[in-house]
Amino acid sequence: MNQPTTWIFLFLPLLWLNLQTTGGEIHSLRYIYTAFSKPVGLEGLHEFTAMGLLDNRMIDYFDSDNQTKVPKQDWMKERLPDDYWEKGTQSRKSKQQWFKVNIEILMKRMEQNDTNNHVLQWMHGCEGETQPNDTLKFKSGMDKYSYDGDDFLSFDDANSVWVAPITAAVLTKTKWDGVQVLKEYTKGYLENECMDWLNKFKNYGEKQLREASPPEVFLFAKETKIETNIMLTCLATGFYPKDITMNIKRNGRVLTVEDGLESSGVRPNDDDTHQIRKSVEILRSDSSTYTCQIIHNATGVDVENVWASDRSLSNGSDSGVSSEIHSLRYIYTAFSKPVGLEGLHEFTAMGLLDDRMIDYFDSDHQVKVPKQDWMKERLPDDYWEKGTQSRKSKQQWFKVNMEILMKRMRQNDSDVHVLQWMHGCEGETQPDDTLKFKRGIDRYGYDGNDFLYFNDTNSVWVAAVPAAEPSKRKWDGVQVLIEYTKGYLENECMDWLNKFVEYGKTDKSSPEVYMFVKDTNTETNVTLTCMATGFYPKDITLQIKKNGRVITEEDGLVSTGVRPNNDDTYQTRDSVEILRNQMSAFTCEVIHSASGVHINRSLGHGDTAIDPGNQDPSPEKEVALHDNGEDTV
Ligand SMILES: *[C@@H]1O[C@H](CO)[C@@H](O)[C@H](O)[C@H]1NC(C)=O
Ligand SMILES: *[C@@H]1O[C@H](CO)[C@@H](O)[C@H](O)[C@H]1NC(C)=O
Ligand SMILES: *[C@@H]1O[C@H](CO)[C@@H](O)[C@H](O)[C@H]1NC(C)=O
Ligand SMILES: *[C@@H]1O[C@H](CO)[C@@H](O)[C@H](O)[C@H]1NC(C)=O
Ligand SMILES: *[C@@H]1O[C@H](CO)[C@@H](O)[C@H](O)[C@H]1NC(C)=O
Ligand SMILES: *[C@@H]1O[C@H](CO)[C@@H](O)[C@H](O)[C@H]1NC(C)=O
Ligand SMILES: *[C@@H]1O[C@H](CO)[C@@H](O)[C@H](O)[C@H]1NC(C)=O
Ligand SMILES: *[C@@H]1O[C@H](CO)[C@@H](O)[C@H](O)[C@H]1NC(C)=O
Ligand SMILES: *[C@@H]1O[C@H](CO)[C@@H](O)[C@H](O)[C@H]1NC(C)=O
Repeated sequence: MNQPTTWIFLFLPLLWLNLQTTGGEIHSLRYIYTAFSKPVGLEGLHEFTAMGLLDNRMIDYFDSDNQTKVPKQDWMKERLPDDYWEKGTQSRKSKQQWFKVNIEILMKRMEQNDTNNHVLQWMHGCEGETQPNDTLKFKSGMDKYSYDGDDFLSFDDANSVWVAPITAAVLTKTKWDGVQVLKEYTKGYLENECMDWLNKFKNYGEKQLREASPPEVFLFAKETKIETNIMLTCLATGFYPKDITMNIKRNGRVLTVEDGLESSGVRPNDDDTHQIRKSVEILRSDSSTYTCQIIHNATGVDVENVWASDRSLSNGSDSGVSSEIHSLRYIYTAFSKPVGLEGLHEFTAMGLLDDRMIDYFDSDHQVKVPKQDWMKERLPDDYWEKGTQSRKSKQQWFKVNMEILMKRMRQNDSDVHVLQWMHGCEGETQPDDTLKFKRGIDRYGYDGNDFLYFNDTNSVWVAAVPAAEPSKRKWDGVQVLIEYTKGYLENECMDWLNKFVEYGKTDKSSPEVYMFVKDTNTETNVTLTCMATGFYPKDITLQIKKNGRVITEEDGLVSTGVRPNNDDTYQTRDSVEILRNQMSAFTCEVIHSASGVHINRSLGHGDTAIDPGNQDPSPEKEVALHDNGEDTV
């Protein structure tokens, strides 16, 4: 998806976009309005923009240049009548006026003249949690305004008051608090109307979310700590929907927990598909026939695979998801002249390891700085000194090339233009824990559109627009540049990625473990939940046990899988419905090897019925380059 907005999105987060990624069973609907006090003069960055987001996906869009609210998902287009879009367009147009008037009021109040551009944003929406009957229950509402990138005013839904974090907003707070009907409307909108739409959109979207996808099945045999034993594991992954049956059989008889069978439960993968894993420890000398049967009704899969009788130990890594993907990316953003917006610098460069920013440079500070403690600790001073020099020369490179492009496109400097470069590599973990190159990325964007990118497969530059043709021909002609780029992506970048992932592992944080129960619809039953949160890295084992026996999804166990928190740590929670009078039989064991934590918890330490709640999921990703030498456009 290389729509213009993809690129521009990269720096909106610097203002304040704090979107959630979908985790487990929380869904959200958000609307984001962004208005500038005067035209920014950037293609793709309009004076006024409004968009709707379901979870992380844009579902509708409006901007001041197009003046039409349009669907961004096929299912939105198909399921909603024409007049939904007509009314929506009218509503967006009047909202655009509202923003115009209100920015002027704010600028006057803050004694600002119109030399600089100012920006007012509004984000509102709701979050719901799926219930057993698959509807969503209101969890939290959000309604907040920001001005020039800082929080301005927000609605405290629980107490029905507006909260002013800065003095300039106090006047507005007082005024809005005084209008009872506005508060009631806001609360009602967030808790009811917004939730109705969220439920509706979720249903519409799910029906088209993805095609059913069959499981891939892997059988493993692995050494155990006990010399005479081996562990048989059956892994099914990549399937959708999540309903699946997995049976491990000995000589045709289905094994159960009584036979020592352990199950991971059905857990989500990163791509909306699911995985499940079951294991059983057996004697090495056991000559029975072991098979694994998988039935996935939605795709008509019914297979039964046999572990080889010699039980030859397979190389497969069966830890968690079959393998992990890591990425290293650098993103550079340069404007043709100062934008006059706080937090939006003329030139910015940042490095990102997976979702985390690891280094940062901007034209106003002129220093490349570490953004993670381990980057600071593990890399010598001269890494940062050289990096700073490199970033400074890159800033010059961008200045020169921006001028070349503007000339080529016959653009004068009355408007601001933006040139971006993103490059990096992605690797997949191997059984020996190193990363193998998966793909490289090296691409440029101009004014929010794709401009030029490197096709790593056949080593050519691809011009996305006619204006990029001269650059493509020039760069394709320099064989050494092509070889350098390919070599950088596949080797040098991968070396750094391996190194950073390794360094990052020293970064650890131990889990906090909570166990609590909640009432159910049935008097005799309660829902028992064990939750671990705040841990890093994300590999963890969490097991609920009844009298020492591990509870599995056959017992009704539901797991959220490991999900990101918004502070670079992770959380996971398992729940199971149990008989109220058996609460004391249950314990929860959590093993987080990286931080050396091994905890056994039981109920009754005052944990009961306290649900610390989910922490917010991770923020939107922000996403910088290498030195190519003679690579002017
Ligand atoms: C707005 O965008 C839609 C679809 O993206 C297009 O059909 C329409 O012509 C555009 N309108 C204007 C005024 O640019
Ligand atoms: C506008 O405001 C800026 C910053 O407050 C100030 O430096 C500038 O002189 C002002 N310009 C005019 C035309 O008043
Ligand atoms: C789903 O369950 C909730 C309670 O968990 C209930 O309030 C709601 O009415 C139910 N919705 C439907 C459509 O059954
Ligand atoms: C698959 O289909 C069979 C036969 O219709 C049914 O008995 C079984 O419960 C289904 N399994 C799942 C996981 O839905
Ligand atoms: C196991 O690894 C060896 C060497 O790395 C390889 O030749 C073999 O094909 C692998 N076996 C399986 C089942 O992947
Ligand atoms: C700059 O370009 C814009 C749009 O192409 C044009 O409207 C404007 O007149 C030009 N300004 C100058 C000073 O040439
Ligand atoms: C790169 O080139 C290969 C071979 O021509 C082609 O199959 C692939 O789609 C291209 N990739 C991109 C992203 O253009
Ligand atoms: C209560 O929990 C028990 C144990 O998990 C389960 O067998 C039973 O079906 C539950 N009762 C109801 C009404 O859901
Ligand atoms: C936790 O309980 C398991 C048995 O369920 C036991 O093997 C383990 O040693 C216990 N760990 C701690 C730290 O008590």
